[in-house]
Amino acid sequence: MSSPASPDELLEQQVKERGVPRHVGIIMDGNGRWAEERGLVRLEGHREGSSSVREVTRVARRLGVSALTLYAFSSQNWARPAEEVAGLMELLREYLEKERAEILDNNIRLDAIGELDRLPRYVRAPLDRLREDSAGNTGMVLSLALSYGGREELVRAARLLAEAAVRGELKPAAVNEEQLERHLWTNGLPPLDLVIRTSGEQRISNFLLWQAAYSELVFAEEPWPAFRTPAFLACLAEYQRRERRYGQTSAQVRGGVVDPTPS
Ligand code: IPE
Ligand code: IPE
Ligand code: MG
Repeated sequence: MSSPASPDELLEQQVKERGVPRHVGIIMDGNGRWAEERGLVRLEGHREGSSSVREVTRVARRLGVSALTLYAFSSQNWARPAEEVAGLMELLREYLEKERAEILDNNIRLDAIGELDRLPRYVRAPLDRLREDSAGNTGMVLSLALSYGGREELVRAARLLAEAAVRGELKPAAVNEEQLERHLWTNGLPPLDLVIRTSGEQRISNFLLWQAAYSELVFAEEPWPAFRTPAFLACLAEYQRRERRYGQTSAQVRGGVVDPTPS
């Protein structure tokens, strides 16, 4: 006989039944402070954060989230002390090796967005291998934002559009939202429904600027290393209490007269 469901299991069941967001982005913040509060070096916070990544990925997969985008390293994070940057890159390499089997066994497609050319070879090689080997997986897309910046992404899209125009393949007047989106690193991912930021900070820090135009934002107090299943479920439950209006009125949305989803 199976044991009675724990409160966590019950909440997970409830969240699942109410309909989960298709695409969740997480700004995984607070590793350094978590470590410093415990008298540890910042890197120990990043290391403990890897366990949160594993746990949140598992829950998201179980719940049927289609895409999970994790902000692991921003374009601006290169400006941190060289020792911390090197430690983060090494942890990333370890993550890609240790999680490889679980990602493949669970039908997860691993991808990455950002200026991947800036990553050291010892990260780029296992990253590309796992991207390739998981390319056919259909369960969930786990996208790591690495050397990622929203402004950098938009500048790149503008440049690509300009180049296409110069080549005569695109008329400037034909540039629209769809064209621009096609040149973003997130091309092909579902619309971003929810952005979570941990550690009590309330800002976007250059994460998915275009994509977050109509995302719900949920700010969690837990620093990332302490952000585990219950905290993630609480954020999803908060999302489910929101009403997404996309510029319309509440009555319109509740009446279901007009499909509020932007095209
Ligand atoms: C998030 O934690 C991880 C990265 C930005 C790489 P931080 O390292 O920013 O931790 P805090 O915000 O300094 O506590
Ligand atoms: C955002 O966190 C980037 C990541 C979580 C990877 P930061 O810690 O770099 O952001 P700021 O500097 O506090 O805005
Ligand atoms: Mg931070």
